[in-house]
Amino acid sequence: MRAVGGAKVLLLVVLVGWEKSWSLNWNPVPRKTVRYQDVLDSMARFTVPGVFNYSMLTLSDHERVLYVGARETLFALDPNDISRQLRPQIDWPAPQDKKRECVAKGKNNQTECFNYIRFLQSYNHTHLYTCGTYAFQPKCTYVNADYFTLNAAALEDGKGKCPYDPAKGHTGLIVDKELYSATLNNFLGTEPVILRNLGQQHYSMKSEYLPAWLNGHAPKYDTLPPVSTPVSFRAFAGSPCADT
Ligand SMILES: *[C@@H]1O[C@H](CO)[C@@H](O)[C@H](O)[C@H]1NC(C)=O
Ligand SMILES: *[C@@H]1O[C@H](CO)[C@@H](O)[C@H](O)[C@H]1NC(C)=O
Ligand SMILES: *[C@@H]1O[C@H](CO)[C@@H](O)[C@H](O)[C@H]1NC(C)=O
Repeated sequence: MRAVGGAKVLLLVVLVGWEKSWSLNWNPVPRKTVRYQDVLDSMARFTVPGVFNYSMLTLSDHERVLYVGARETLFALDPNDISRQLRPQIDWPAPQDKKRECVAKGKNNQTECFNYIRFLQSYNHTHLYTCGTYAFQPKCTYVNADYFTLNAAALEDGKGKCPYDPAKGHTGLIVDKELYSATLNNFLGTEPVILRNLGQQHYSMKSEYLPAWLNGHAPKYDTLPPVSTPVSFRAFAGSPCADT
C-alpha cells in the first residue's frame, strides 16, 4: 500500500510482542511517573454509576469538548472540568437479541457481550464517527456533535473498523473522511488486517493477508499523531520489520 489518495498522514502501527520488544531495545518505562495517591485530592474525576471501561478519549478539533467512549455509553465532557457533562450522555447498548447471540456463541455475558466503544473520532465539522464491539458484531455510526445524538437505527457494519473482542488491540485514524484501521477482522480474532475503510462510500481496501508479521504474541496496536505524507503503516513484531 503506497501513497494512498492524497491523505497526509503517517500512521504508525506498532505491534509489540512484549518480550520481543525488549530485544528491540524499546524502553517501555514511562519517562515521568506520578503516583495516583499523590494527585488523588487535586484530580478532577468523572464516573457514572453503572458505566464501566472509559477507554476512548477524543478531544474535539476546537478543544472545547472531550468525548469519552465507555461501555455502551458516550459522553461529552468539559475538558477544563471533566466532572461536567456538556450534553446528556448517549446510551448505545447492544440490543438484547445481539447479546443473546453473543452468549450463544460462547462469550461471557458479564465481560464480553456488551457494546464497548472502541472508535470515536471527528469525521467532519458536524459529525463524529464511532464504532463499538456491539456484543461481538461490531457496528459504527455517526454522532451529531452539536446535539450529541446518535441514530442507533442507522448503523453501518463495523467489521474491519473495530475489533469483535473488546479485549483485543486496535487502532484507527480518520483522514480526509477515510478511516484507516488496523484490527482483527473476524470473530475468532485470527485475521489481523490493515484496512482503508469509509463512511459514506462504503468501500474498503484491504491489505494482503498478513499473519506472518501481524501475528505477534498478544499484538498491541498503537497510533502516533499524523506526521507526513504518504500513509505509512509500520509493524514491529520482533523481526522481520515491515513497512507498507
Ligand atoms: C449470565 O450467564 C450466567 C450463566 O450462563 C447466568 O446464570 C446469568 O443469569 C447471566 N446473567 C445475565 C445478566 O444475563
Ligand atoms: C458530515 O457527515 C454527515 C454524515 O455523512 C452528514 O450527514 C453531514 O451533513 C456532514 N456535515 C457536513 C458539514 O458536511
Ligand atoms: C473493563 O473494566 C474492568 C474493570 O474496570 C476490567 O477488569 C476489564 O478488563 C475491562 N474490560 C475491557 C474489555 O476493557
